[in-house]
Amino acid sequence: MRSSQAFYLGIAVGGVVVFLYNSLRKKSQYKIYGDVSELIGNTPILRINSLSEETGCEVLAKMEVYEPGGSAKDRVALGIIEDYEKRGLLKKGDVIFEGTSGSTGISLAMLARSRGYEAHICVPDDTSTNKIRLLESLGANVEKVRPASIIDKNHYVNKARSLAEQICNDQDDPRNAVFADQFENEVNWKVHYQTTGPEIYRQCDGSLDAFVTGAGTGGTIAGVGRYLKQKVPNVRIVLADPQGSGLYNSVKYGVMYDSVEKEGSRKRHQVDTVVEGIGLNRRTKNFEAGAMYIDDAFRITDKEAVEMARHLVSKDGLFVGSSSAVNCAAAKKLAEQLGPGHRIVTVICDSGARHLNKFWKITSEDTSGP
Ligand SMILES: Cc1ncc(COP(=O)(O)O)c(C=O)c1O
Repeated sequence: MRSSQAFYLGIAVGGVVVFLYNSLRKKSQYKIYGDVSELIGNTPILRINSLSEETGCEVLAKMEVYEPGGSAKDRVALGIIEDYEKRGLLKKGDVIFEGTSGSTGISLAMLARSRGYEAHICVPDDTSTNKIRLLESLGANVEKVRPASIIDKNHYVNKARSLAEQICNDQDDPRNAVFADQFENEVNWKVHYQTTGPEIYRQCDGSLDAFVTGAGTGGTIAGVGRYLKQKVPNVRIVLADPQGSGLYNSVKYGVMYDSVEKEGSRKRHQVDTVVEGIGLNRRTKNFEAGAMYIDDAFRITDKEAVEMARHLVSKDGLFVGSSSAVNCAAAKKLAEQLGPGHRIVTVICDSGARHLNKFWKITSEDTSGP
């Protein structure tokens, strides 16, 4: 080979090496996410060391607090919005209505902003000012409604539905409106069946003995429970229910009842507990979709939830919201019941930061618990 040929060959080989290097570098291990909805799902799983060591079981938590909107409701809000989009019912400027006192409104407001929709959220007027300010900061219209029974047309869920209908029926309003309806809209449990359940199954390499979580709409327990039962037939699906909720008795004895329902003893709230987001005194379509897969239930008192929240901070550095504290308290009880050597998965639903002016106020101030 002549020296000039060797020279050009060297240049060509060098060029190929540089090209390969650059193309490999472009396919970096770090994905650049396109918008906030791409950050939803694929949350990590964490071993809760204190509970694992105390019980001899492996207690794992699906960290839904890592969602961009701070809770698993991001999955549900995205599923509901995409369903309406596929059906051609949402275009820029249209309005999404929901009746919620919590996380779903925050997730809907976040996604509505990122996709050019309006979010109109009806909340009970005793909703914490923190949450109302958060919703408003996310650009939602927030409507405060007096607390009422679910059969009352002024209940915040019914109010959101009727406001959506009003826009749809108004010939002069160019906007369309949809009602998210997280309690009855079965997109909710299906999203958990399609995403949260398979993620937990994969993250556990298909090996787990129980899944325990609370029910607000019932979407999580129904979707995850249904998926896991199909993949791991012996897995136990267990409900973690706060005091004041009728679901515990409904699962254990087939009767929707709680002692606070006794005549004259019911307080102002639908479910009398300091815990937010879980507990219910009716069976929703989303709960029904998974009810047949629920094997057992634990009732967790407010005192037990507060004690667990303190425990998780002091032993594991985990600052969790009230429903997560209920979940972990039930996971511990279940671990004690099953005995050492089992793997139990629960959910950290949201952060304690969202509960600073209620649950964590009690948790920090009152050392004897509520
Ligand atoms: C903080 C929090 N945890 C748990 C849940 C319960 O989830 P699900 O509605 O899927 O039963 C909710 C529901 O609103 C929630 O807001």
